[in-house]
Amino acid sequence: MTQSADRHELQRLIDNLYEEHRSLTDGQVATYIPELAKASAHDFAICLVTEDGRTFEAGDCDRSFTMQSVSKPFTFGMALEELGHDAVARYVGVEPSGEAFNSINLQDDTNRPFNPMINTGAITVTALLHAKYGDEALDRLLATFGAAAGRQLTVDEAVYQSENRTGHRNRAIAHLLLNFGVVHEEAEAALDLYFRQCAILVTCRDLAMMGATLANMGRNPITGEPVFDLAAVKGMLSIMFTCGMYDYSGQWAYRVGVPAKSGVSGGVMAVVNRQLGIATYSPPLDARGNSRRGIEVCSGLAARLGLHAFDCLNAGSSYLKVVL
Ligand code: DON
Repeated sequence: MTQSADRHELQRLIDNLYEEHRSLTDGQVATYIPELAKASAHDFAICLVTEDGRTFEAGDCDRSFTMQSVSKPFTFGMALEELGHDAVARYVGVEPSGEAFNSINLQDDTNRPFNPMINTGAITVTALLHAKYGDEALDRLLATFGAAAGRQLTVDEAVYQSENRTGHRNRAIAHLLLNFGVVHEEAEAALDLYFRQCAILVTCRDLAMMGATLANMGRNPITGEPVFDLAAVKGMLSIMFTCGMYDYSGQWAYRVGVPAKSGVSGGVMAVVNRQLGIATYSPPLDARGNSRRGIEVCSGLAARLGLHAFDCLNAGSSYLKVVL
């Protein structure tokens, strides 16, 4: 067994956070997508990947789960890159909604969704990708997500079918968006793509690597493959910072202070710009749909490593440092 003194400080830290939060049993596993109810409340994993690809992990970082809403920043990034920021802005805003992830609520003046992290906005973004790529869209998503993770990813057919059968609320949203001309006429096909994107299987290690790809200016730190351009990464991290944790986003920004995205299957991915991808997996959720343990582990990491964007250790613009 590894002696404590031999372990890297980051390894010791996540081992401690893992032990500290293993006994936290608050929260409920999501059941509104019936297949997700099969997840074990005991599953728990923490993974950090640095911008140069060093990996630290605790718990079962090989356990597969579906991305759900953690997929949303990645489709948003693809849309920004493929269609341009102005074109995307015509369809979806960048304002926090202050409402639940599945709220049926559009901006009063434009009928656009508030932002791409909630379901209205995410379905809109996926419809834009569907309109651009048609039948190839899923392969494009899998290729981009896989490049960020550094391995080929697949869709969990059972979870996809389960949401497709029961996702009446999302179906209503897609048709509302069609009514307002926010999504194109093939709203059902776009929704099908959205359900499949949510059912892409990852591990906690994959999510940390995807976060590290964003931290590393859009390039996978292990394979070196460029996945997103700098402007897309900036857009993705900005929207994760303000809207990634739904109606907890303000408190998250206050407490943790780094861009993040959660999903109802229990994943949380956080990014420390130019330094670190962080991922946690633990299925029990709080009332807002964020992983209970995920929130606590990320808060602990931020506090102990000084990760908060406004921590006194965070010295701001390196450009200013040169010119001042
Ligand atoms: O659209 C849905 O309801 C799910 N496929 C994804 C929602 C989700 O992950 C919200 N996250 N906390």
